[in-house]
Amino acid sequence: MKLFDVYPLFPIEPVKAEGSWLWDKAGKKYLDLYGGHAVISIGHNHPHFVERLKDQLDKISFYSNSVKNSLQEQLAEKLGELSGYPDYELFLCNSGAEANENALKLASFVTGRKKVIAFTKAFHGRTSGAVAATDNPKIVAPFNANHEIEFLPFNDLKNAEEKITKEVSAVIIEGIQGVGGIHIPSNSFLELLSKKCQEAGALLILDEIQSGYGRTGKFFAHQYSLVKPDLITVAKGMGNGFPVGGVLINPNIKPWSGMLGTTFGGNYLACAAALSVLEVIESEKLMDNALLIGNHWMEQLKNHQSIKEVRGLGLMIGFDLPESLASLRKDLLFKHNIFTGEAKPNTVRLLPSLALSKPEADILLEALSVELKEVAHS
Ligand SMILES: Cc1ncc(COP(=O)(O)O)c(C=O)c1O
Repeated sequence: MKLFDVYPLFPIEPVKAEGSWLWDKAGKKYLDLYGGHAVISIGHNHPHFVERLKDQLDKISFYSNSVKNSLQEQLAEKLGELSGYPDYELFLCNSGAEANENALKLASFVTGRKKVIAFTKAFHGRTSGAVAATDNPKIVAPFNANHEIEFLPFNDLKNAEEKITKEVSAVIIEGIQGVGGIHIPSNSFLELLSKKCQEAGALLILDEIQSGYGRTGKFFAHQYSLVKPDLITVAKGMGNGFPVGGVLINPNIKPWSGMLGTTFGGNYLACAAALSVLEVIESEKLMDNALLIGNHWMEQLKNHQSIKEVRGLGLMIGFDLPESLASLRKDLLFKHNIFTGEAKPNTVRLLPSLALSKPEADILLEALSVELKEVAHS
């Protein structure tokens, strides 16, 4: 059997990883400033992550959600404490799309309504409702297109003021738009969305799947504003590579038996991985590090005249390049052995481990000086 060919691949096969580094079969070393799409939060193969998972494997790795699992309770407790949402409740699932799908479903159960407001350039995943709320018609199949979704212009207060009405079930927005190219919602925009949702009886869903888990220097990106969303979705950095996702749910929303469910969500291994991530974020003060290293990068990147714009917070950074520098990301990878991410049409995205050190961050700055100087002189 062949693989279903949906991913454009780099001709590189990592076989070993540690911290912010990857090694291929030939032993060539790469600096990972992409974290496998913002997934590696505490660093590849962090010893505490490895130890917790190995230890758990020796005990029990799976049973269904029909029995008590104290690890789930420990995870909810720790996540509540670190995120500043101790009174919220946690539903555990397996991926970002599944978290958003469940959040959209919960909002619809609570309000009895169908309509969802999302925003231009949004990405929320590939399951039915999540992909319908994603602003990319190329990945929305006719089957997914029957949801009632209205896209409003991002950061446009006037439209939000008018369109969040009593027909709306949920407003869904990313803490910082990732796939769309690192766009930050203004505090006044988030605060207006929250106010309008309260007035209309709609629920506000903050998709923190890419921007959460300490990446911006706060646990959630929206915590730079005064907003307290009804639902917050998490995944990616939550498991440092182990598939796990979740929905943080305002305690005003009351569950009933069977309302949501999943076979694998909250399994022992996922909980062990997720607990190890929170323990390391706390003990190694990774949120402070994300802010420190992110600010250093932002300051230095802004000095390059050929970079058109730099956006971001902490270690979630995007910078726009002119057309003449369209090959920069490939040059960084193949000439300097540095993985970065992209957003269309010409944005480089930096989403490294939150434990990235300053000397590691400076390797990118040195490579950029070489590449951007070459362009300036050509
Ligand atoms: C903001 C955001 N939401 C949702 C998703 C979907 O997550 P997953 O791929 O785990 O389903 C992503 C993935 O890139 C994302 O960036």
